Amino acid sequence: MEKKGRLLSGMQPTGPLHLGNLEGALSNWVKLQDEYEAFYVIVDWHALTTLYRRTDLIRIYTREVAMDFLAAGLDPEKCAIFVQSHVKEHAELHLLLSMITPVSWLERVPTYKEKREQLKLESVGYGLLGYPVLQAADILLYKADVVPVGRDQVPHLELAREIGRRFNYLYGDVFPDCKALLSEYPVLPGLDGRKMSKSYDNAIYISDPPDVIRAKVWTMYTDPTKIHRTDPGHAEGCHVYAMLKAYGQEELHRDCELGRAGCTEIKARLADFLIQRLAPIQERRRKFEEHPEIIDEILASGAEKARKVARETMAEVRRAMNLE
Ligand code: TRP
Repeated sequence: MEKKGRLLSGMQPTGPLHLGNLEGALSNWVKLQDEYEAFYVIVDWHALTTLYRRTDLIRIYTREVAMDFLAAGLDPEKCAIFVQSHVKEHAELHLLLSMITPVSWLERVPTYKEKREQLKLESVGYGLLGYPVLQAADILLYKADVVPVGRDQVPHLELAREIGRRFNYLYGDVFPDCKALLSEYPVLPGLDGRKMSKSYDNAIYISDPPDVIRAKVWTMYTDPTKIHRTDPGHAEGCHVYAMLKAYGQEELHRDCELGRAGCTEIKARLADFLIQRLAPIQERRRKFEEHPEIIDEILASGAEKARKVARETMAEVRRAMNLE
């Protein structure tokens, strides 16, 4: 099939991936690997901006994320799956781009402002300010045309484009314009009704076994005015309903509203639905868990593919900047 262009996206190995990552990003990536020449990168250097004290965890999570990618259906025959730190060109381009990026552009980035406030007392690392420059390097290194991301990443994408344009203006045309490809999937609510996120501790992970999924769903908040099974329940404010709705399964909640089913029953339905949703993915994941050497091979060949493109771009970049 004729490809529509080149695509790159990345995820930080700051934890195992959850249903929000799966529905919001990964499932879409799986479709896109057929339409584009796709590069999917596990950005371990980005994870260092916050997890620099726990490099042991970054190592573990990098493998977990790789397994989640493969389990979700990314196919190393169709796309390149690799680890950022395996392709050193990311670091070189980051350095060069940092020279032409005004600090004022970086200080305006909303994610930086948020992170800086969260970290409060602890000093803010230089790398955290430069986070979007490294991200721009990830994208520009592959001359990606499209970058599938969530809405929260739009400011980073804007910055990547501006940095690319500034480079072209200063040194001549090297980088094409890239654009964000926003996924239409609505934000998946977590166990507490807020956006599913590792940092809110409200997530169901792709690798959670059925009993863990059941136990997590049991903890979900439901309509407090529904005391008896026969009381009509209200969908509004019920977190079980919110998750069913995000999956287009509101029908499974109808019996509650009609006073025909209790909260436990509806929770069991949600848990069963999620367990089924994850069954084929977990089945695939098992193969990789049992044969970790396959992961090493896939990541090595992914890095090889990535490096080929990265080297070519860097040769052009150095030539343009009189660095050869
Ligand atoms: N900042 C992105 C996130 O947290 C991860 C990322 C790093 C990325 N480099 C990228 C996404 C390049 C898209 C393209 O989600």
